[in-house]
Amino acid sequence: MTVVGPFGVSVRDPALEADVRAGLTAVEAGLVEATKSDVVFITEAAQHLVRAGGKRFRPLLLLLAAQFGDPYAPGVVPSAVVVELTHLATLYHDDIMDEAEVRRGVPSANARWNNSVAVLTGDFLFSRASSIVAELGTQAVRIQAEAFERLVTGQIQETAGPQEGEDPIAHHLGVIAGKTGSLIAVAGRLGAMMAGAGEGVVNTLAQYGERIGIAFQLADDVLDISSDGAESGKTPGTDLREGVVTLPVLRLREMAARGGSPADRALCDLLAGDLTDDGRLADALAGLRAHPALERARQDALSFAEQARQTLEPLPDTAAKAALAELCDAVADRTS
Ligand code: IPE
Ligand code: IPE
Ligand code: MG
Ligand code: MG
Repeated sequence: MTVVGPFGVSVRDPALEADVRAGLTAVEAGLVEATKSDVVFITEAAQHLVRAGGKRFRPLLLLLAAQFGDPYAPGVVPSAVVVELTHLATLYHDDIMDEAEVRRGVPSANARWNNSVAVLTGDFLFSRASSIVAELGTQAVRIQAEAFERLVTGQIQETAGPQEGEDPIAHHLGVIAGKTGSLIAVAGRLGAMMAGAGEGVVNTLAQYGERIGIAFQLADDVLDISSDGAESGKTPGTDLREGVVTLPVLRLREMAARGGSPADRALCDLLAGDLTDDGRLADALAGLRAHPALERARQDALSFAEQARQTLEPLPDTAAKAALAELCDAVADRTS
């Protein structure tokens, strides 16, 4: 049993392991190549987070999806580079919006330089992703563009909050399907499509990506509260400090509204207030860590991961399918 990917995902089949390793190595080379500019400073800013690492979850998923066709087909590695570059660009932008100072264990681009550099570097990464996807054909371009629209729409809806009368949990699940599920669905779709898999298989892997993507983001929301920062490479409590409402907080509000204790309501009030003060933020984090709402949110993540696993059912029983199923266990329980 050999570990090849993030959060301890194991691939038991040596041939598959070799393929995935080779694919990920080629993706790394592609990322470095795609982030080179004639302007030395742009290369430095664009490669800052590439070189800082990251889990490469989306390329891994894409490479596993490509196993349902010809994994050596020429479009497979470039499409993984496109998906990771797009993800990376959103991280440059997201850290500005969240005023995050740490990313992948290093200073975020906005902290290291400033917001202007971070915005423009994100745009630079999008432009490079666009150039590469253009080589993969108009269908790939459309898939990328439509997912990007969903991603941005999700980010905007998160900022805007639920509409009058809208259920906040349903709103939140819609937000994360857009901002995170959409691009992970593209990883499943493009991996299978570039490998020449049939339409049914392509759609199955896209749906799998969407569902595991939702589980992935729900786990990220839990990690913002439960992690210690050393493993996640991000600052815990960033969502709370920025007033970004995530599922643990929504589950707490739900419990507080349905006959919760005075302590539950006090925690809700604390969370609704200004958490830019370090002491108040620490109290809010401690309160949520000890509250069953956090475990409830973890269960929500597990339930989407389980749905993702069930999506795989129609696929042939192969080592790649087993690895994708294992990713479902790993994703909801991850610590980084
Ligand atoms: C962070 O994504 C943003 C989310 C969608 C939760 P990742 O957790 O995949 O970040 P990296 O690529 O490993 O840094
Ligand atoms: C960001 O979600 C999702 C995208 C970048 C589209 P988060 O704000 O939760 O991501 P992190 O926690 O900063 O990585
Ligand atoms: Mg963020
Ligand atoms: Mg987060």
